[in-house]
Amino acid sequence: ADPNNASVGAEEDSGERRRLPQAIIIGVKKGGTRALLEFLRLHPDVRAAGAEPHFFDRNYQRGYRWYRSLMPPSLEGQLTMEKTPSYYVTRETPARIQAMADGNTKLLVVVRDPVTRAVSDYTQTLSKRPTMPAFEALAFRNMSTGIVETGWNALRIGLYAEHLQRWLQHFSRQQLLFISGERLVTDPAAEVTRAQHFLGLRPLISDENFYFNTTKGFPCLKKAEGQGRPHCLGKSKGRQHPDIRPEALLRLREYFRPFNRRFYEMAGHDFGWD
Ligand code: A3P
Repeated sequence: ADPNNASVGAEEDSGERRRLPQAIIIGVKKGGTRALLEFLRLHPDVRAAGAEPHFFDRNYQRGYRWYRSLMPPSLEGQLTMEKTPSYYVTRETPARIQAMADGNTKLLVVVRDPVTRAVSDYTQTLSKRPTMPAFEALAFRNMSTGIVETGWNALRIGLYAEHLQRWLQHFSRQQLLFISGERLVTDPAAEVTRAQHFLGLRPLISDENFYFNTTKGFPCLKKAEGQGRPHCLGKSKGRQHPDIRPEALLRLREYFRPFNRRFYEMAGHDFGWD
């Protein structure tokens, strides 16, 4: 039997059972993917896997039965979701997700200014590896002449248009929704409303669900899923970034500009990063 036949292990009844996801947050790393999933799972019709399954990039050979076992039980009519931010930039992933549901999976991508995203990505690695070289030393082949180290992964992930091109070989534009990582912080309800609409969910999550936590400096939930208490994302979300030399940031903004323009055109929306 083909372990990657989508019907393997599916039970027939319409009661509570585990299902393959019908919607996936595919990226981008450090875009605000955890925030989006935590906000969406407040919805009674959403059931989400907690951890990142990394099925389509690292665990594909384990098959659908394994993948499905990671999903929480759901009722018919509820939407099963997961998030794995590396999917967006992994070469094999678009064809594999297409194969799961014949291209009918809904894909959400949280995008954020690629320069800030790179700094956020760097900050995360730095927190695990404090002896790492300075951001500027990694981002440039030569800082004084401004030659960008285009091969550095923290920068490559930010070439959103290049990655999108690959997705569009397997999915129609209508299957993808781009969420602004910046707006997810300044107006979370507005971005979640867009996501609810895209997912065909009743518009139940609104401004009422959020409050701005001044200590954290981010929006938090008045009540987390299944709890009555206020809830902010963990310490690894909303880290303080190190100071980066302004001329380095300027040069990187310039580097990304043509790629951003192309992405705005493909996405049909100007995200206002430059
Ligand atoms: P920083 O830690 O650089 O600020 P991901 O979940 O994809 O790894 O994204 C992490 C980013 O989500 C954080 O990056 C933070 O800016 C952003 N974010 C968006 N909304 C947030 C919220 N309500 N609480 C904490 N972080 C949030």
